[in-house]
Amino acid sequence: MHLPPVGLGTMGIDDPDAIAAALAVGYRHLDTARIYDNEDVVGGGLAAGLTANDAARDGVSRDDVTVATKLWIDDLGPDEVGPAARESADRLGVETLDLLYVHRPRGDYDPETTLPALDRLREEGLVRNVGVSNFEPAQLDRAIQVLDAPLAAHQTELHPLFYRPELLEHAREHGYTVVAYSPLAGGRVREVDAVRAVAEAHDATPESVAIAWATAKEPVVAIPKASSEAHLCANLAAAGLELTDAEIASIDAVEHEEELFPE
Ligand SMILES: NC(=O)c1ccc[n+]([C@@H]2O[C@H](COP(=O)([O-])OP(=O)(O)OC[C@H]3O[C@@H](n4cnc5c(N)ncnc54)[C@H](OP(=O)(O)O)[C@@H]3O)[C@@H](O)[C@H]2O)c1
Repeated sequence: MHLPPVGLGTMGIDDPDAIAAALAVGYRHLDTARIYDNEDVVGGGLAAGLTANDAARDGVSRDDVTVATKLWIDDLGPDEVGPAARESADRLGVETLDLLYVHRPRGDYDPETTLPALDRLREEGLVRNVGVSNFEPAQLDRAIQVLDAPLAAHQTELHPLFYRPELLEHAREHGYTVVAYSPLAGGRVREVDAVRAVAEAHDATPESVAIAWATAKEPVVAIPKASSEAHLCANLAAAGLELTDAEIASIDAVEHEEELFPE
């Protein structure tokens, strides 16, 4: 599965216009979840964005956009997975979910029953790719063993204050993408001295540096959330900011202990 270096995190976005604006400025990966309670907003923005851009010369088609959502922990029983995924697709107004994640390995999650139910949805064509989120390496190993589908992505918290190289190593070994969530530490990257120092050297913002730092790592893509057009554009452009090895190392060395979304 190909994902662009920067996609859009939509947690907290409640205006379809923000989604349509993101598509207009070039976003091609939209990340939501049932628990964000905004799949209808994302779907509305997607429909509006596709229609608006279709008329343009460089029109965006549905096939260009990866729509990703997540099953919450009470949707993971073998009889719940299918109906929950269909409801998500209906709210999003799409026939196919390009990427469907297990949001957390908790609640009704049981690899032996949850994952075969996801495989069935892929065989039926409702789901194109299967991903997991907030997994530990042993849980990733088990998922890879049980799934018929290749594991497409692991979505995990990754920013200068919370960075786990072993998860990237696992992804490289097994050939799936790491989707970095909260890449701006929810806005706190501006408080990190090492990030600010690199930003000053490049006449860039700390947010751009955090995105450039994350996406410089293989095999990482980032999904910052942004609402204004200025933030949307800045974040998309940030993947083009080239940091030196020394600058990357200086941010790697930041103490990593500020997990925003612990289990
Ligand atoms: N899988 C999971 O368990 C999980 C957990 C948490 C999050 N996520 C996903 O990851 C996405 C992103 O994480 P997040 O929402 O926690 O936080 P984030 O992306 O780290 O930070 C978002 C905050 O940064 C601000 N911001 C964005 N671009 C900026 C810029 N260029 N300059 C200054 N400020 C900027 C935003 O403000 P504005 O809105 O005003 O632009 C917002 O307040 C979520 O939306 C969700 O899709 C997944």
